[in-house]
Amino acid sequence: MPETSLDMIVRDARPDDAAGVAAVLNAIIAAGEPVAFDAPLTAEAERLYIAEFPERGVFHVAVRQDDGVIVGFQSLEPFAASIHAFDHVGVIGTYVAGDCRRRGVARCLFAATFEAARRQGFEKIFTYIRADNPTALAAYASQGFEVVGRARRQARFGDRYVDEVFVERFL
Ligand SMILES: CC(C)(COP(=O)(O)OP(=O)(O)OC[C@H]1O[C@@H](n2cnc3c(N)ncnc32)[C@H](O)[C@@H]1OP(=O)(O)O)[C@@H](O)C(=O)NCCC(=O)NCCS
Repeated sequence: MPETSLDMIVRDARPDDAAGVAAVLNAIIAAGEPVAFDAPLTAEAERLYIAEFPERGVFHVAVRQDDGVIVGFQSLEPFAASIHAFDHVGVIGTYVAGDCRRRGVARCLFAATFEAARRQGFEKIFTYIRADNPTALAAYASQGFEVVGRARRQARFGDRYVDEVFVERFL
């Protein structure tokens, strides 16, 4: 695992992690951070999402060692499960609790996910990041992702449109 100043482990997510995963995501949404989600998720919906996660996908949680709290998670799913031409491409998402940032949690999640994704036959990782999210753009750039495009007015929040930036990284 890469350097981190937080004592934690990264492991596969289980349905019982649903409440912890939802807590991380819902705090980010409630704080108005620039992510695509704009409404909170229930632990029950998250449980179903984890339970039905694609077999080829990778879903990791970062768990703080001293209290077992989930401080971050990362999921990678096939780009389009029903179209085999895209089988080598995964779509990733990364979320870290606000009070645990800049301590290498995402870096550890990326390292674990890259390794697992290679084992699952993925060759590249792709994602969409809101153009008004410089933190995420910097975090993905630090992990070797390159900006390959921009979709204008791709996300709408009320009457406000936001561009999204496409980034990719070959494994
Ligand atoms: C993006 C996010 C996942 C990064 O998590 P993190 O655990 O804080 O990231 P790390 O500590 O592993 O940082 C790794 C590197 O990314 C870059 N980075 C991360 N946050 C940064 C920031 N705020 N400003 C500039 N660079 C940053 C740095 O290069 C950092 O390395 P360094 O700390 O040694 O300089 C986290 O900020 C987050 O959850 N944001 C809200 C959700 C979100 O926007 N997710 C992306 C949607 S796909």
